[in-house]
Amino acid sequence: MSSARVPFWTLPENLFFAKKLVRIFMSKLIRQIHRWVSIAFTVTVIANFVALGLGQGQQPPGWVTYSPLLPLALLMFTGLYLFTLPYASRWRRRT
Ligand code: HEM
Repeated sequence: MSSARVPFWTLPENLFFAKKLVRIFMSKLIRQIHRWVSIAFTVTVIANFVALGLGQGQQPPGWVTYSPLLPLALLMFTGLYLFTLPYASRWRRRT
């Protein structure tokens, strides 16, 4: 009788699948972020080359020079997360 009041997703077997779904969703989301930020990063690098080419020997403005840094930092964190995924799933299978 009392088990009827417990939300179905808190039952141990359902919680296991809920956690698995969240993990799959997270890794797909992070992979998509990594993929699209890589395009933004590439655009900022190309912008640097264009600014250097059009600058007639002058340095491009600071915001152009440093614009690849933010996407690169995002790529580093999301990339390191992606790197750990196969090891994390192997570790989970073993335990
Ligand atoms: C900064 C450090 C970076 C790290 C640590 C990193 C790491 C990774 C890892 C581990 C993967 C997954 C590989 C797999 O499928 O097993 C990946 C995928 C990928 N990386 Fe990076 N990456 C970095 C930077 C970059 C940069 C600079 C670019 C391009 C401008 C880039 C573009 C991509 C793309 C397009 C994928 C495939 C994404 C997909 O599967 O949809 N990454 N990266």
